[in-house]
Amino acid sequence: MPVSPYVSVRDFVDPTGNLSFEGKAVISANGVDFSSGKSYKISMSQMCVLEVLGLGQYGVVHKVFHRPTRVIMALKEIRLELNKRALQQIIMELDVLHKARSPYIVDFYGAFFIESCVYYSMEFMECGSLDRLYPAGIPEAVLGKITLSVVKGLQFLKDKLNIIHRDVKPTNVLVNKKGEVKLCDFGVSGELNQSLAKTHVGCQSYMAPERIIGTAGPEGYTIQSDVWSLGLTIIEAATGRFPYENIGFTNVFDQINAIVNGDPPKLPSSRYSEAACDFVNCCLNKDSNSRPNYQKLLEHPWLVEAEASTVDMEDWASRAHALFLARKGPSSSPYVPHTSTRR
Ligand SMILES: Nc1ncnc2c1ncn2[C@@H]1O[C@H](COP(=O)(O)OP(=O)(O)OP(=O)(O)O)[C@@H](O)[C@H]1O
Ligand SMILES: [Mg+2]
Repeated sequence: MPVSPYVSVRDFVDPTGNLSFEGKAVISANGVDFSSGKSYKISMSQMCVLEVLGLGQYGVVHKVFHRPTRVIMALKEIRLELNKRALQQIIMELDVLHKARSPYIVDFYGAFFIESCVYYSMEFMECGSLDRLYPAGIPEAVLGKITLSVVKGLQFLKDKLNIIHRDVKPTNVLVNKKGEVKLCDFGVSGELNQSLAKTHVGCQSYMAPERIIGTAGPEGYTIQSDVWSLGLTIIEAATGRFPYENIGFTNVFDQINAIVNGDPPKLPSSRYSEAACDFVNCCLNKDSNSRPNYQKLLEHPWLVEAEASTVDMEDWASRAHALFLARKGPSSSPYVPHTSTRR
């Protein structure tokens, strides 16, 4: 297992790395206590809120300072519409996050509830999400490395935890100041997904055609649907725009129609290699059964080349982040991506 830079937090949260859920959990504003005596030792009173990092559909993400460990964290607030039973179910399901330890997955530190919100504490990724780092389009060599990390993260979730991500998109691909690329916000908790109270509606659909038309099996979702979303994410990072906007569909209804009935978008072949274009075409095959699995994607010539190449990701991340900060300006108001509208 890789050593996390936040190993001190992991010890603080749970020295064994494995929470025991045998006993009944008692949920309070101070965290969750278990009859075994173990508890999530993370609570709001220990957090000093520093700034707003972003606004999602379900709540706000803050940069916070966790006083006991002196670690900067990202604290995600998720508003829920649920009862106490569902809250308990969610905390059980969040246990799986303690096992999600991979260099390609954002570290989870713990969660606690206050009233109708779940607060989810995770590793702070200094350079933020991919949507902030691509204004002029990401160069192919960097894009290859990013894609490699995302595919490895998705493969880890599937192979080690049996989890389908369900929400692959640029805002869920995070970059730290070392230039490391990690995934967050995977659909670990079925109960949580069902209980989310939307405060903010996204305008774009990264959903695969089979999800929209409902032919993706009883669960409504398969691994192949994440591969489709990956293809769209790569094009968006490469071109700086949501792919269906590139081809003229600006409202979400037209986009959904185009996903189901139109040809899939492509990488611009004038700027990207044949291997990169082919990789994206494989991900965006409208027939979900013909999309490659993660092992096949890792064996694709584009990712084989990306694995072998040397790219200064730290340098790219710091430059791209500096450009983002310059665009955003000194305002303390949260950055709301152009892709989202408030209800
Ligand atoms: N761990 C983190 N470190 C740094 N920034 C983060 C972190 N987690 C989230 N963010 C930032 O906060 C923003 C809001 O995140 P959130 O997950 O709530 O919504 P989203 O992914 O943008 O959209 P949606 O709600 O549709 O999933 C993200 O776009 C990202 O830029
Ligand atoms: Mg997110």
